[in-house]
Amino acid sequence: MAERLRVHVDPDKCQGHARCKALAPELFELDEYGNAHEAGDGTVPPGLEDKAWLAKSNCPEIAIDVIEE
Ligand code: F3S
Repeated sequence: MAERLRVHVDPDKCQGHARCKALAPELFELDEYGNAHEAGDGTVPPGLEDKAWLAKSNCPEIAIDVIEE
């Protein structure tokens, strides 16, 4: 069975760099302060796995977790 991924933003770590939104707009949303949270329940649709890992590795605050389910 294919592995499913879920992204999660730690709101205590996120400082609003928005690289996640730039790299993976399907997976993240920004609030009115520019801080990110995962879109929906964070489930990564098929085909967007690379974007999830890319966003994680590009967040300067290490605020993004990619959870393998
Ligand atoms: Fe926040 Fe990192 Fe995105 S600081 S806005 S989760 S790139």
